[in-house]
Amino acid sequence: MEDAKILVTGANGQIGTVLTKALKATYGDTHVIATDIRPATQGMWKTHILDVTQRSALEEVVHREKVGYIFHLAALLSATAEQKPQQAWEVNMSGWTNVLEVAHAQGVRRVFFPSSIAVFGPHTHRQLAPQFGPLTPTTIYGVTKVAGELLGQYYWHKYGLDVRSLRYPGIVGYQSLPGGGTTDYAIDIFYKALQGQPYTCFLNPDTRLPMMYMDDAIRATIELMKAPVSKIRVRIGYNIAAMSFTPAQLAEAIRTYIPDLQVTYRPDFRQEIAASWPEQIDDTHARNDWEWQSHFDLDAMTQDMITHLKDNAMALSQSQQ
Ligand code: SER
Repeated sequence: MEDAKILVTGANGQIGTVLTKALKATYGDTHVIATDIRPATQGMWKTHILDVTQRSALEEVVHREKVGYIFHLAALLSATAEQKPQQAWEVNMSGWTNVLEVAHAQGVRRVFFPSSIAVFGPHTHRQLAPQFGPLTPTTIYGVTKVAGELLGQYYWHKYGLDVRSLRYPGIVGYQSLPGGGTTDYAIDIFYKALQGQPYTCFLNPDTRLPMMYMDDAIRATIELMKAPVSKIRVRIGYNIAAMSFTPAQLAEAIRTYIPDLQVTYRPDFRQEIAASWPEQIDDTHARNDWEWQSHFDLDAMTQDMITHLKDNAMALSQSQQ
């Protein structure tokens, strides 16, 4: 991706924050254009303010900067989308249509679409969701992800636009905060645990979901986008997997380091969303096609999260002294 500029939409979101940083570290600050509807909170980089539903604004920046690669991360997550279905359709679908149209018209080389385990629904095998199987999501978020995957595949077949996609599990990381997702509990719980506070979980203790550590998710994204075109044999979202756990299992893993952690369970509307998703997904295609492999399991993730969040808290308290 050295040969042309990289544009990231949603650069200040949960995944965007970490992906943009990684891309800038590899390819150089000015080679990567961070765009978002909001400025970066910690002033990490200059954000080009961009609303992806405004096609002409997107067109202008892609043209001016001669963008060759787009990572399109701007989207509403599952829980927010369920509260605002119309807006979710608008942002998730119009935004993506605009990216595809502009990429096609301007000769962009490669485009990344973040899909999700939310593409699955009640007709999917719950214990191990296959790469190719029924996609009957019951959430609006899942509907936009299925439609988005298929639209991306269509642009590949119709125009040869090199669209690549991953079905992310719930992503856990210390670098950024999630917003409006059903899997957000798995990050919130670490903050409460480290503050010595009890945590009230919005999912039932036995809700098992596919999850991944942020470092693995970022590596998967960059490896997929760097892979030679001949290796990409799936043009809908690739299933990628790392681990699956329940809130009770995560709490137990955290208690290895913070034995006093108290968790109570008060499931809300997000329980129904989680219950419509599979417990585990089969990522054989990603492993075979472009040698995908995860590095972090539940224990490695928990240890790394706690180490980094402790360091962050220490740095914060020192900077305030
Ligand atoms: N982590 C996402 C969410 O909970 C799933 O893609 O919405």
